[in-house]
Amino acid sequence: MINLTPRLLKTAELITPCKKLADIGTDHAYIPVYALQNDLAETVVASDINEGPLNNAAKTVKQYGFEDRVVLRLSDGLENIEETEADAVVIAGMGGELIAKIIGDAPWLKNNKQIIMQPMTHFEDLRAFLCDNGYKITKETVVREGKRLYLALSAEYTEEEVDFGEWYFYVGNLIYSNNPDEIEFCNKIVSRLEKKYTALINSGYDANKIGKILEEIKYEQAKRNI
Ligand SMILES: C[S@@+](CC[C@H](N)C(=O)[O-])C[C@H]1O[C@@H](n2cnc3c(N)ncnc32)[C@H](O)[C@@H]1O
Repeated sequence: MINLTPRLLKTAELITPCKKLADIGTDHAYIPVYALQNDLAETVVASDINEGPLNNAAKTVKQYGFEDRVVLRLSDGLENIEETEADAVVIAGMGGELIAKIIGDAPWLKNNKQIIMQPMTHFEDLRAFLCDNGYKITKETVVREGKRLYLALSAEYTEEEVDFGEWYFYVGNLIYSNNPDEIEFCNKIVSRLEKKYTALINSGYDANKIGKILEEIKYEQAKRNI
């Protein structure tokens, strides 16, 4: 059985078992192999924008004997992947802005697809994109790997319109979590915002917007302790 690192394992664990999975930016195809071994999917399209990572993927797929269940595909985001090829899509190990762009460029993801994301940066841009485009975040989780904490989340399109305050884009539902890693993750985001707030004040810029976001986050955070 393949051994995933904690970041990839936490991401893969967000997949609800499905028939067809697509892993975008697959590199070594670790998630596809894990998904097949653990009955999370019957077939996988493992895609990447670059040849090198696809060659890595081919080696892993061969090593675990899944050549008949994994299709390797050169593709920028979901450009070369058909709607009928995926019930669930994983996009992991990229910046939040790029993940948002990949999702935005594939409107068919609105048709009852699971989207599993593991952004490395710009979490607020990704959450804002999802909320502004009718995607509901269904799960969020944080995992520690080495010295770093990683965010993984899943979403699906829903007709539901929910008007969160801007604070939500920064911390999401993690703000209510009592899990120590999730608390630490939120605290880091708060302290980054506080630094930005102080820097704006010190250089005479308008800091009202960030000040309001900070206030709202602290208000929501207080609910966690009730
Ligand atoms: C840091 S690796 C992440 C690999 C794996 N998903 C993970 O989480 O460990 C990022 C991968 O995304 C690929 N990539 C970057 N931009 C992409 C795009 N627009 N479409 C598809 N793949 C992309 C890169 O070639 C690279 O293999």
